[in-house]
Amino acid sequence: NWSMSSFIDREISRIRNLVGPTAQVIGAVSGGVDSTVASKIMTLAIGDRYHAVLVDNGVMRLNECETVKEVLNEKLNINLTVTPTADLFLSKLKGVTDPEKKRKIIGNTFVEIFEEEAKRIDAEQVKLGRGKIEYLLQGTLYPDVIESISFKGPSATIKTHHNVGGLKEDMKLKLIEPLRELFKDEVRRLGEIMEIDSDLVWRHPFPGPGIAIRILGEVTPEQVRIARQADYIYIEEIKKAGLYRKISQAFAALLPVKSVGVMGDSRTYEQAIVLRAVETTDFMTADWFEMPYDVIKKISSRIINEVKGVNRVVYDVSSKPPATIEWE
Ligand code: XMP
Repeated sequence: NWSMSSFIDREISRIRNLVGPTAQVIGAVSGGVDSTVASKIMTLAIGDRYHAVLVDNGVMRLNECETVKEVLNEKLNINLTVTPTADLFLSKLKGVTDPEKKRKIIGNTFVEIFEEEAKRIDAEQVKLGRGKIEYLLQGTLYPDVIESISFKGPSATIKTHHNVGGLKEDMKLKLIEPLRELFKDEVRRLGEIMEIDSDLVWRHPFPGPGIAIRILGEVTPEQVRIARQADYIYIEEIKKAGLYRKISQAFAALLPVKSVGVMGDSRTYEQAIVLRAVETTDFMTADWFEMPYDVIKKISSRIINEVKGVNRVVYDVSSKPPATIEWE
């Protein structure tokens, strides 16, 4: 850990020298470990001259925005703004079923909102007599750097942070990437050294388009509710069973297929939830996780009983390739 601590010290002084005494920095956060660790380092370096922005895209996990706000703002003292834009994203997603269209809409809207927010903060800071925003912070890791110069599968290359690239040019911001020489496990170690909540440090990766690509078919507020509740129960039970860290990525997806069921003495006709859990080191290939039956049993009965609109739960036993990790 000694080398990781000295890494933090070195990065802090490098950032201070680079940014100077008055310039300011902006960055997008997602609640993931990379953007949080990068934000924490930036905060240690320049305090509230760093502005973190969480764009609420309406398709984050249940309670995610609130949790991120609490952890980053209150516990880690990061200067954070959350944009109240869930309704805007959901209205743009109305009627859209094609996975790549969902990605484009969410990516483009994200850039639009982030850019607006950056301009708003910039104007506000200039009014206060403070310096301009000149830098953009990104939590790019070494594998992301490699990925952008070598070929990788179609969806894995589409990452939200790549979308912010446009902003860099538009606003003439200079890029700061404190994690660009590090691997994920090193970033996690940094997170632990800086006493970031272990829930956040060990969080499974979450795609930029969020649960919009885990709701097959149209993304409506009602579908979002169902997918969120089911996913929340699933992850909660995996954690209770002590399996969360053994699994590389787990999530529930909502299938827009209705099947017949029976509840009490009436017939039901509702949708299905599929549980996905994989083990992988690089996310390029992945094996499905051998979930213990007693855990699946508990999850299934809780989802069917607690989530209105679901009467069937299935477990995904497909490896990548030929399946992908996500369903869209
Ligand atoms: P697939 O489904 O291609 O996913 O096996 C590999 C990894 O990439 C994530 N993923 C995405 N991440 N934006 C992202 O930021 C996306 O559009 C996207 N699509 C897939 C996926 O969650 C998995 O970790």
